[in-house]
Amino acid sequence: MALEGLHIIVTGAAQGIGERTARTLAQKGCSLYLTDIQDGKVAGVATELAAQHGPVDIGQPDSADAMVADAIEKLGHIDALVNIAGIDGPDDDALEETEEHWRRIIDIDLSGPWWVTRAMLPHMIERGSGRVVITSSIAGTMGFEEFSPSYHAAKAGLIGLTKGLSARFEKDGILINAIVPGYIGTTGNPMPQSEIDAYNADHALGTGGAQPVADAVCYLLDDSGRWISGTAMNVTGGLWRR
Ligand SMILES: NC(=O)c1ccc[n+]([C@@H]2O[C@H](COP(=O)([O-])OP(=O)(O)OC[C@H]3O[C@@H](n4cnc5c(N)ncnc54)[C@H](O)[C@@H]3O)[C@@H](O)[C@H]2O)c1
Repeated sequence: MALEGLHIIVTGAAQGIGERTARTLAQKGCSLYLTDIQDGKVAGVATELAAQHGPVDIGQPDSADAMVADAIEKLGHIDALVNIAGIDGPDDDALEETEEHWRRIIDIDLSGPWWVTRAMLPHMIERGSGRVVITSSIAGTMGFEEFSPSYHAAKAGLIGLTKGLSARFEKDGILINAIVPGYIGTTGNPMPQSEIDAYNADHALGTGGAQPVADAVCYLLDDSGRWISGTAMNVTGGLWRR
């Protein structure tokens, strides 16, 4: 499928990587439904891009169901779902992370993309086609002393989720892949400039900004992604080399 004219849901589109992805897909002529827990902010982005929009709390299955139903009603049909919404796992030391924090990160960062994808799948099965992208993280493939245990576990879990779902739904014509962003630096979840400078001094390709991730999403959604399923696409500027 060519990107132009595709009907696509983007979660987490109010800011950061989700917003950049929405802007990139809009430039390529996609019909978009933008969604986020920050309803007013996502409405502003949607208005600018002549896109449809609606609220979601991806941590709530009922909210995910309602959002997908609203998107189908407003766009007529959906070709692709791009799961980008998520929350940062503040840098809690392993022994200090509270149970409440652990459960919140797992609820939103791991369960959330599944609730949204689960709500989407019946429509794609009925159509016999679809693409789904799930946003993991370098913290799902490598260990970092400074990231919380829950964030590592959630983002690694999304890679397992992607592999299991892709195996199950290929026969329905649905291709499901994860993207694995590295140090982005400048999104709504920004690194301080001193950290960006230190990282860039140590890594030839530096921090990425959101655009390389948006471009990877485009690659997976259009014709170039037609034989790609169940992968965890490394968009880390060389940080993850396995
Ligand atoms: N920034 C990075 O360096 C980086 C690296 C690897 C992976 N990621 C992942 O990329 C994704 C986007 O990150 P970002 O840096 O753009 O973050 P961001 O905070 O700028 O954007 C995340 C968006 O998700 C929305 N959101 C949060 N909780 C939600 C919920 N319960 N329901 C619906 N929407 C919700 C927020 O309102 C926000 O608009 C996240 O999943 C993050 O884990 C980011």
